[in-house]
Parts: sequence; C-alpha cells; structure tokens
Amino acid sequence: MGAAHLINFRLLVWGIVIIPALSQGGLKTGFYSSSCPKAESIVRSTVEAHFNKDPTVTAGLLRLHFHDCFVQGCDGSILIAGASAEKTARPNAGLRGFEVIDDAKSQLEGLCPGVVSCADILALAARDAVDLSGGPSWGVPTGRRDGRISSSAEASSLPTPLDPVPTQRQKFASKGLDDHDLVTLVGAHTIGQTDCLFFQYRLYNFTSTGNSDPSINQAFLAQLQSTCPKNGDGSKRVALDKDSQFKFDVSFFKNVRDGNGILESDQRLWGDSSTRRIVENYAGSIRGLLGLRFDFEFPKAMIKMSSIEVKTGTRGEIRKICSKLN
Ligand code: HEM
Ligand SMILES: *[C@@H]1O[C@H](CO)[C@@H](O)[C@H](O)[C@H]1NC(C)=O
Repeated sequence: MGAAHLINFRLLVWGIVIIPALSQGGLKTGFYSSSCPKAESIVRSTVEAHFNKDPTVTAGLLRLHFHDCFVQGCDGSILIAGASAEKTARPNAGLRGFEVIDDAKSQLEGLCPGVVSCADILALAARDAVDLSGGPSWGVPTGRRDGRISSSAEASSLPTPLDPVPTQRQKFASKGLDDHDLVTLVGAHTIGQTDCLFFQYRLYNFTSTGNSDPSINQAFLAQLQSTCPKNGDGSKRVALDKDSQFKFDVSFFKNVRDGNGILESDQRLWGDSSTRRIVENYAGSIRGLLGLRFDFEFPKAMIKMSSIEVKTGTRGEIRKICSKLN
C-alpha cells in the first residue's frame, strides 16, 4: 500500500471512530463531497506544498485556526485585512500562514466558485498541518460559513502567556472547553516557536524579586539566558518544545513536567492539581490512572474547538477572497 493510501485509510478510520459522536453545531464531515469533491484534497496538497518549502508553516496554521475560533467563533474572521480588523489586535501579532489559506482559496474559487468557506479551509488546513508534522489525523466536520464581523476590540477573549490557570480555565470554559480540552489543546505547543519577548521576563528579575522564575529547571535556565540575553534582541525565535519542535509528539508535556516549559502559561499547568494530572498523564508518568493517549484525545478536542460558535445554513457568507468581506 502506498503512502497516500495509508493516509486516506487513517483518515477514514478517524472519521468512523470520532464523527458520529462529535458532529456538532450543524457541521458534518464531507460537507463538500458533492458540491466540490476536490475541496479537501486541494487544501491538503496546498498545505503540503507550503510545508515542503517551510515546515514551520504548519505551526502557523494550527495557531491561526485557534485564534480564529476564539473570537467570533470559527468563521474566518481572523483572515480579514484592515486597520481595525481582528488580526491587528496585539495577541494576533505573530500569526502566520495566511498565504496558504489564500492560495487554497484561489484554487478552489477557480474550481467551484462561491462554495468552500474560508473558515472551513482553515479548519482543514489545521488538520493537515498536524498530520504533516507527524501527529494524528481526523475527519473534520465542515459546513462553516464565513463571518462578516472582524474587530480587533474582541480579541481580549484570547488567552495570554501571562494568564494563570484559573484565567486560562475561565477563557476556555467560556468557549465550552474544560480542563481536559485546555491541556490537550495547549499540547499544540509541541510544534512551533515563540519570541524571546514573550517569556524573557521569566529569566531576569521575575515579579521584581531580583531572581528568575523559580519554576524553571536550572540547567535549562542557563541555556535560555544565553539564547535570550538581558536587553537582547527580543525577536529571537525559540522552540516551544525544546526537544522536538517540528514533531507532533508528547515531549512538550514532559518538558512542562520537568520545568522546561517556555511560556509561563504552559509551565503553570504543572502548578494546578487538576491540569497537572492531565499533563502527567500525557507525559507518561501516571500509568493506568487516566490512561489517555494524546494522539487520540487531540483530535477530539480539536473537533470541539473547531465547532465553537460556527455559522451554518444561511448565516454569514462564502467569501470570494479570504481577506475581504464580499
Ligand atoms: C492558554 C492558552 C494559550 C496561550 C496563552 C498561547 C500562547 C501562545 C504564544 C504566546 C505563542 C507564541 C507566539 C509568537 O511568539 O509568535 C504561541 C504559539 C503557538 N500556539 Fe499557542 N497559546 C495557547 C493555546 C494554544 C492552542 C489551543 C493552540 C492550538 C490548538 C495553540 C497553538 C500554537 C502554535 C502551533 C504555536 C506556534 C506558532 C508558530 O510557530 O508560529 N496555542 N501560543
Ligand atoms: C528588580 O525590579 C525591581 C522593581 O522594578 C527593582 O526595584 C530592582 O532593583 C530590580 N532588581 C534587579 C536585580 O534588577
């Protein structure tokens, strides 16, 4: 069996296992199977082409989908360009992968004009990104419509790297996601990078104590301090998962367990008893207690996140260009 067949077979299996229980909010897998049968394969080949040039684009796409879903629901509102659009808000500053969505969209408009929403392209691209990075795959329920509102003022519902666990919990709960979903989804930090700027304050004079954040592993602290020197270039990029930033695996959770988390918000998941149990489980240090497998839980949590406040039926629109309202 060729690689392509194996991938299709995996998709099929995930679809059968997961979809009946979780098809929600009026979405269903294979929504385009008759209106634009090539929709999913075109998104896939587009993501793959960009990935082959720059493997870090997958991290960008996954984060882009998350930021889309947390503001106005998963409706492509993050893709809109404009002076006061959602993407201009501070938490959205480093987002990337927009060109991949635009590329897929222009191919799809050529093939089936006005049919495939930008919001769906983004949800599918996030799935393909995880798969290409060696993670699990799953059937993505589709049928989202694109929103007509995109405002930077609404981005405050996004979590920030300074949020303590109760704040992270509350922000996720307001989107219908529990602690299990929170920890599982933050596991997306197994791929991708951040700027020194986002965590440098943990390395020097943390909370004005004169010392670094005591939860940082001492050996790792020295390494981080040399990568991100005091008053140095804050835009230097650092892997969120120090051991395998290109591979979608569980080493991120091991790093959180060992004090090697980069973002303060990630490291705090070890300090709260509820989130800690879940991190511990994925890191493999609890045997037979929760026994949850990250590979299996991540797709379920993604399908939940991908369904946040979706617009279906006749609501919203199918944009012609993802960065512009019709
Ligand atoms: C408490 C929740 C979360 C916080 C505070 C948070 C915060 C951040 C921050 C500050 C960055 C670095 C951005 C940069 O420097 O450019 C980042 C990167 C990233 N985040 Fe999150 N995040 C959270 C949850 C999630 C979730 C739920 C996902 C996806 C399911 C996700 C996916 C990613 C990915 C893939 C990257 C790397 C992006 C890249 O390399 O371009 N994050 N996150
Ligand atoms: C840490 O920050 C506090 C408050 O800004 C300041 O008073 C103190 O001098 C700083 N300590 C060091 C070692 O830089």
